[in-house]
Amino acid sequence: MIVESQQDMAGLVRVGKVVGTALKRMKEAVRPGMTTGELDAIGAEFLRREGARPAPIVMYQFPGSTCISIDDEAAHGIPGRRVIKVGDLLNIDVSAELDGYFADTGATMPILPVSALKQKLADTAYQAMQKGIQAARAGQPVNTIGRAMEQVVRGAGFRVIRDLPGHGVGRKLHEPPNVPGFFNPRLRDKLVEGMVITIEPFVSTKANRIYTAPDKWTLKTPDGSPAAQYEHTVIITRGEPILLTKVD
Ligand code: CO
Ligand code: CO
Repeated sequence: MIVESQQDMAGLVRVGKVVGTALKRMKEAVRPGMTTGELDAIGAEFLRREGARPAPIVMYQFPGSTCISIDDEAAHGIPGRRVIKVGDLLNIDVSAELDGYFADTGATMPILPVSALKQKLADTAYQAMQKGIQAARAGQPVNTIGRAMEQVVRGAGFRVIRDLPGHGVGRKLHEPPNVPGFFNPRLRDKLVEGMVITIEPFVSTKANRIYTAPDKWTLKTPDGSPAAQYEHTVIITRGEPILLTKVD
């Protein structure tokens, strides 16, 4: 969506804060030995108390309030009985609707100690997101973001997962435009002032695409290589974007 009023702005700031805080609470609660279902319940309870509805359920009837993905699960992992272990590369993705506005955020958490490779992968995904955010300016092509992110990822010797783009957000969870994590020569869209998008590089040590697991939801790397992602919902301005889901 494009922000058109003070009401839009206030609604987006509210949902951004709730979603960002839900992710923060979940990150603080993570312990090896807990199940992904228990972790999901913490996020679900927080969203409920704030009057927000989990977007994966509202939009897609996803079997969980948040998406929790481990190692080669790049996205849309179903929370359940899986036990979180030391050495896991855990990804939590939280999205919700409040008063008709949506926000979306995610983070990868290495469950320490992890391998140096997994740590580097998580660090690279974070740096890529930061570079993507810094590159995002009204008047620039949407591709500016992907170009900046891809440069970080390639520089580290890793790959962008090409079939998992960022996206417009605000009135729904997923709206135009596509915001790929790489430079896509076919893309013509421009960033405009007030545009609400996610910036979310998906990065893997080797894979540049994903497949859907037999559970029909979980998106995994075909070669089993680990994946990492960080995500913020931002509003595009003529200067630095406004980070709606950043709470700390
Ligand atoms: Co997300
Ligand atoms: Co997203």
